[in-house]
Order: sequence, then C-alpha cells, then structure tokens
Amino acid sequence: MKKNIIHCLVFLIVFTSTLFAGNKKDKLLYKDAKQPIEKRIEDLLSRMTLEEKVMQLNQYTLGRNDNANNMADPVNDIPGEIGSLIYFSSNPELRNKVQKKAIEQTRLGIPIIFGYDVIHGFRTLYPISLGQASSWNPALVEKACAVAAQEARMSGVDWTFSPMIDVARDGRWGRVAEGYGEDTYTNAIFAAASVKGYQGNDLSSEKNVAACLKHYIGYGASEAGRDYVYTEISKQTLWDTYMLPYEAGVKAGAATLMSSFNDISGTPGSANYYTLTEVLKNRWKHDGFVVSDWGSIEQLRPQGVAANKKEAALKAFKAGLEMDMMNRCYDNHLGELVKEGKVSQEQLNEAVRRVLRVKFRLGLFDRPYTPESTEKERFYRPENLKIAEQLAEESIVLLKNQNKTLPLRRVSKIAVVGPMAKSQWNLLGSWAAQGKSEDIPSIFDAIKAEYKNQAEVSYALGCEFDGNDRSKFEEAKSIASKADVILFCLGEKKDWSGENASRSSIALPKIQEDLVMELKKLGKPVILILSNGRPLELNGLEPISDAILTMWQPGTPGGKPLAGVLSGRVNPSGKLAMTFPYSTGQIPIYYNHRRSARPHQGKYQDIPIAPLYEFAHGLSYTTFQYADLKASALSLKPDGKLTMEIAVTNTGDVDGYETVHWFINDPVSTISRPVKELKFFEKKMIKKGETATYQFIVDLKRDFGFIDEDGERFLEAGDYYVMVKDKKIKIEIVN
Ligand code: GLC
Repeated sequence: MKKNIIHCLVFLIVFTSTLFAGNKKDKLLYKDAKQPIEKRIEDLLSRMTLEEKVMQLNQYTLGRNDNANNMADPVNDIPGEIGSLIYFSSNPELRNKVQKKAIEQTRLGIPIIFGYDVIHGFRTLYPISLGQASSWNPALVEKACAVAAQEARMSGVDWTFSPMIDVARDGRWGRVAEGYGEDTYTNAIFAAASVKGYQGNDLSSEKNVAACLKHYIGYGASEAGRDYVYTEISKQTLWDTYMLPYEAGVKAGAATLMSSFNDISGTPGSANYYTLTEVLKNRWKHDGFVVSDWGSIEQLRPQGVAANKKEAALKAFKAGLEMDMMNRCYDNHLGELVKEGKVSQEQLNEAVRRVLRVKFRLGLFDRPYTPESTEKERFYRPENLKIAEQLAEESIVLLKNQNKTLPLRRVSKIAVVGPMAKSQWNLLGSWAAQGKSEDIPSIFDAIKAEYKNQAEVSYALGCEFDGNDRSKFEEAKSIASKADVILFCLGEKKDWSGENASRSSIALPKIQEDLVMELKKLGKPVILILSNGRPLELNGLEPISDAILTMWQPGTPGGKPLAGVLSGRVNPSGKLAMTFPYSTGQIPIYYNHRRSARPHQGKYQDIPIAPLYEFAHGLSYTTFQYADLKASALSLKPDGKLTMEIAVTNTGDVDGYETVHWFINDPVSTISRPVKELKFFEKKMIKKGETATYQFIVDLKRDFGFIDEDGERFLEAGDYYVMVKDKKIKIEIVN
C-alpha cells in the first residue's frame, strides 16, 4: 500500500514538473508571439551561448548548389543550429524536415532562414532584369516580383538573393543581364519596385519573401568586363553613380543586402567598413543584415587583404558583414576571435540581433514550417502567367523597322531560320531558378500559332549558335527562297551571360552573321529577332536588315510575346536601358558620360564615336509627336517649386504605350557632371489620335542638385536644362 502511495506521489511530482516545464518553455518570452519583436530578440539573445550565436551567422547549402561557379559538396550533416541554408528544391518538404531538426532537436529551437536566387521568377519566369528595365514599367515589375515571392515562399524559400541593382556599362560583363542597366536612377526605381514586390506590406505573410540588395557595391564596374576583378571607383563616383539604387532599396525596406566580390579601389566590398557600416548602418540606419557573396570572405585572401581565413573573418566581421555564405570562415574562427577579445561580445550580439530581427519579421519563430501545397496551387497561376507575358511583351525593343516592314501582315509564307528558332532552354536566361524550359513556347511554335490559318510557316536551322559548320546553309537557303520574308532567330545561349560569363566581344558569332549575309542574297525582307542577355554589336547586320528586335530572354512566355509583336497584336513599347555600342571597341559607352575637354576631337580613327542604338531608344508601330516643353517657372530660388509638362500626341493609326524620359543637364558645376542625367520617367498608353500630358514635378535639390564624395547633395545657383528627346528648356536657379 505504502509503495503505491509513493509511486503515485512520484508520478504526480514528475507530471506536474513536466507540465510546468513544458509550459515554462512555452512561456519563454522569445516564443511568445504577443511580445514585441525587439523584446523577443533580447530575451533570446540573453539565452544563447557563444557557439549558438556564431552558428546564426553562417549559411550552408542544402543540397548541391545549381550555380556552376559555386559547386560545393553539401555539408553532410546539417547542424540544427545553422542560421541559414540555400534551398534548391521546388517544394517545402525537405525544408520542413530540416526545419523540424532546428526547432525540435536544438536547445533553443531557432528557425533556419532559407534563401535562394529568385532573380526573375521562381517557376513562372519573366524576362531577365535588363529586359524588365526596358519595359520602363516598375509597377508591372513589382507585380512580377510578387509572383516570384508567392511561388518561392510556398516552395520553402523565405529569402531571395535579389534584386541585383549593379549599375553596369560594360556589355562584356555577363552580369549586365541581371541588373537594370547603365543608369543610376533607373536602377534605383527598379530596386524599390522589386523590394516592394518581394516583401509586400507584411514580411510574415506566406506570400512574401525577404529581399536582398546586391552586390553591394560597385560590382558592375568590373575591369574589362571580367568577373571577380578589381573596380576602380573614386568616392565621388561611388556616390554619384552607385549608391543611389542601394539607398532607394534600403528606403523601400529591403531586409538584407549581399556584399560584393569586387575590390573597391583597394578595399573589397566584403571588408569595407565605410560602405557596410558608416553608410549602410550609421547613415542609412539599415537594421537588417548583410550576407557575404559566396566565398567573398575567404576570397579576401587571394585579393591580398587577408593572410588566412581567420584574418578574413576578422576583417569582414569588423567591417560590418553579418552572415558568411559558404565561406566556412565564421563558423571556424568567429568564436575564437571573440574569446581572444578581437571581436567583442556586443559586436557579436549586434550581428546576431540583426539576423534574428529578420527571422522574427518573417514570422519564422511563429510559423517555421511552410504549409504543404500542390504544384497547381504553387505555380503557373493564370493571373501570374499573364503578368509574365505582359512584362515580356513590354520588354521587347523594336530597334529598326525600315519602311514599316513590321508588323508582318499580308504575308503568306514565312521562313523562320536560325539556332534560336526552336530553342526553349536559351529563352530562360541566366539564373532560371526552378523554371522549366519544356513549358516555354519556342519562337517557331509561337509564330506558327500566331499565324495559324493566315500564313505558311517553314523552318530551317541554318547554323548552330557558334562554330564553323556551314553545311546547313544551302537547306536554309532553299527553304527561305520559297518564303515572302525571312525571320532570323539569333542571339546568345543561356550561359553566355550571367555570372562568370564575360565575353571579349559582344558581336554575334560569325557563323550567325554569315547565315544572314548568305540568305540576304535571296533579296527577301530580312527581320532579325534577337534573344540576348547583353547589348550586342550589330554594325554588320544592321545595314542588311529591314527590321531588328530584341526580346531579351523572356522566360516562361517564350516566343509568344514576340509573335504578338510580329503580327501587330502587340505594339512594341520597350526602350533600351543600356546602350548598344557600334562595336565592342567603344566600351564603356553610356549616355550619362562626363564631358570631353575637346568635344570635337578625341574621336576614333576607325569607327564612329556614336553608339548604334542609344539609351532609351525603342520604336513603336505608331508615331508620337512631342509638343514644346512647358515649365511652371523659368527662374527660381533654390527652395522654389517647379513643374514641367509636355504633351504627346499619338499621330499614328494604332494605340501605343509611350515612355517619356526626363533628363537634366547642368553645364557648369563645382564638380563636373554627366552630359545628361535621367531624373524621371513615365509610361502611358495613348490611343491613336489622342494626346496625353506628362508631368515632372521637380524637386530642385534632388533632381537638379548633385552629390559630393561625402554623399552630401548640393544645389548651386546657375543655369540648368530640362530635356525630353531633342527638346530642352533652360531653368535658372538664383540665390
Ligand atoms: C553567386 C552570386 C550571387 C548569388 C550567390 C548565391 O556567386 O554572385 O549573386 O546570389 O552566389 O548563389
């Protein structure tokens, strides 16, 4: 009897203690969703050991990375304490399995944040960023990024390593495909739009992901267009060319940034206290965190600023870089550095605080698992496919249209020729995430569908993308000889642009040019359709082509938008966000260049100095007439108000979108300024015969002012010009 009473007592004690213990764990403040995030962070931080803190500052890959340049064997046994993982699956199952280990098999149950390169879509791909910029439709890009976020978050990805907002002016650099072109303001506008699209209004929503501004900073200035190399960037240029997109992205609320590979005039981006701490944290008050680019911490060694991984870890961490992407520097050395007093506990705590803050804001502590869903629920929603298709339509740039060759009407036989004609894979573009090429209509299939029952569409390969095999020229010539018009589908393979994809020449391979030259002998209209990830050198093909379009790399919509442009179902409205040089020899060439001491000299002896197609060039099937510029005042004080207006009339016979680009020019300034600077743009649909008025509300200091090497914006008295197309008006600022 006595023994039973004792057993009951023991049971009662154990039961109640477990109950309270369980409740006690549930009562831990950092686990209480009702508590303010900052309190939850501090509570959790106070409970963490040194090792647990260090592990939060590391990111491994879960599975083999799909980026050829960063092949790495996955970390065999992923520790549940890891802060972040790069996630390569298109469903949340594996993520939830690993997350369960973090939540249930670790002392504090801190959730992992899963990141991935969702650059221009997850499964529903839309055009590469350089194409998106050519649409001049940031509202549409915002919608497209929201689609990417929904597909990614429902697939187990909480964080995208996007947008890439590196101003770039050298088409030899393969990564021009990933950014929004050569202009500072353009990259700033699209930076904000994409951050808003990815993050929405509530980061904890299961339809949003954390954004990551990259690559901070100046990566696009890579010498000679090669990757991972030196960038010569003065502080003046850092501020007047590269900082604005990041400032705009931070102001838009970007949760994270990624530090860059490049050496910024002697101090690599991943060990740069000035950019990572003085500007980003102290001036812009960014309260999220910075993740390194893959290996960019341990690469401080080959860059010559660290003797070993431990020193690299110290330099990067002290500069203000919170998370180590697959460098194996922080996990191996940060703890030691703290014990040696080289990194203080508070510095460590502040870094961990920033990572935890993003995790709390994402709602990962309260909902660490991604709900199960079907592929149908996750991908290719009809409304999302429509957004991708519209963006692909609006990104197409009509570069040439001699004698109104296009749209293609009243033709009965169309020959579709060239290596891109039936390609699906290459239309995906670089960083294709979970895109499926088999779901993409090729250009040939799209044209056949577009002209069904209207024209006979024939096909010939003609040649491969490169090489010297001319054996298929004759067959192509024979097929083309029976057609009314020849569409040449040419361009770049998917992996000819993107990371580590520099090309010494931006010309198309000779075999492609030769194919056009050979079939041109048939005397038929020649239409050049290009799918490319960079500006191309076209001075050889331009004179023999009747029409030229670039469709960039359109993603899932594939050839359908292009077919719509050919038939006239879609009136092209794209305009270049990056100059097309006359030839590679002109590079770097961009519209907002500084002035020459001798504008009428300093030319090349062998080629023109003008580009083939300049920034903002793009034709429509209609015509637009620009009236004279109007200004609300021609002379103002620096605190005055200025409104600019211009009326644009659609004088053609089809409706069309028109983007008005507003430039300023300050001919005399304390610091020499570019000959033109884009300060605003607006795209409107103007119906045929109608007139639209475009307005530019000028903030004099922001739009007329300039910025100095300390990032201070200033406005000087003097003459300024506001310019639209070939029109300009002088505005005087008087003290
Ligand atoms: C790559 C790229 C970066 C990408 C990262 C993860 O090296 O530079 O843009 O986000 O590694 O794949």
